[in-house]
Amino acid sequence: MSLQGKHIVLGISGSIAAYKSASLARLLIKKGAEVKIVITPAGKQFITPITMSALTGNPVESDFFSSNDGSWHSHVDMGMWADLMVVAPATASTIGKMAHGIADNLLVTTYLSMKSPVFLAPSMDLDMFKHPSTQRNLDILKKDGVHIIDATSGELASHLEGKGRMEEPENIVKKLEEYFQISFSLNTKKILITAGPTYERIDPVRFIGNFSSGKMGFALAEECASRGAEVILVCGPTPLSISNKLIRRIDVESAQQMYEVCLKVFPEVDAAILSAAVADYRPEHTYGQKMKRSDHENLTITLTPNPDIAAALGKIKKPNQLLVGFALETNDEDKNALSKMEKKNFDFIILNSLNEEGAGFGLDTNKITIFSRNGNKKSFELKLKKELAKDILNHVFG
Ligand code: C5P
Repeated sequence: MSLQGKHIVLGISGSIAAYKSASLARLLIKKGAEVKIVITPAGKQFITPITMSALTGNPVESDFFSSNDGSWHSHVDMGMWADLMVVAPATASTIGKMAHGIADNLLVTTYLSMKSPVFLAPSMDLDMFKHPSTQRNLDILKKDGVHIIDATSGELASHLEGKGRMEEPENIVKKLEEYFQISFSLNTKKILITAGPTYERIDPVRFIGNFSSGKMGFALAEECASRGAEVILVCGPTPLSISNKLIRRIDVESAQQMYEVCLKVFPEVDAAILSAAVADYRPEHTYGQKMKRSDHENLTITLTPNPDIAAALGKIKKPNQLLVGFALETNDEDKNALSKMEKKNFDFIILNSLNEEGAGFGLDTNKITIFSRNGNKKSFELKLKKELAKDILNHVFG
């Protein structure tokens, strides 16, 4: 049971859906979790602290200080105690305050002190939910690494029909269980990921590059981090951005620079996933000045091989380290992928084919087959790269 023994802080803000927080707390406790409640002043208008304290067996926190003896209610302690915080229901106001750090109640200060993952389940009227302000705040929180349990559609307290209902407690519990089941398998792991293209300079304004977008590597980095891993993402030039605090991003330009960083970092990681499209060759000579058309009738650029990062890591790999590579093949796909796995000493190789529609460079989708060292082969259907990142991690670390 993935919730057994887990410490969960349940935050309640002022929405009619607060009556569902009672069932949510009960379900969590039934699954073996210990629950502490932090409630906003408006939340108390909808459900009483007495109800919630009776259900959880713990005092309900709402004020910064006890009115009896002036003692401080520590949101910091709560932040350290929790394995997870879930705010359900989360009103537009609470979402806005969380997004902007407006710490004028104990729920928001607890959120700001939280060391563990935070989930929230919005609950509000349909127009409030779809208002650009609410959506903007949800986007901010998503970027901050908060997991949003999307609102559902149906009849609302206003009797209007639309999207804004808090997800049912049973489904919230399912989402938290899923999270604990998969996410903590990468807790305490340190993972190196390479992503994107490399640029090999010809002169100060020109380079040899490729069409890689870095999307697969970034999706893997986000997924590893959301499962609790510490990620070092070494990426070539890409406009993509990351949000999770567990990802340390190191930007490089050329294969040589990527090689140097990877070799330095590899000894301290548990696994490396090499999704970068590293240039095999670079110009032997990089011109210091912009080359002029008038200086050359015909121009020949001599290329010299770049270091093979994957092969270098494969050579120094220790038995307790995992090395995962990618292969993009246009012919004899399986055969080439398998021989690459052997040559570079990979434990797994992920084959993506350029022949498949919807798979490949720059797209949000991909179609892959994973081969493992022990002869296993598993093909996946065409999916979003974000979904494939989950499949890859489940397969490799599962
Ligand atoms: O380019 P190739 O098909 O050999 O790439 C296979 C794997 O090797 C990929 O995982 C890629 O990131 C990695 N590679 C590398 N260094 C290179 C070339 C490829 O790490 N110089």
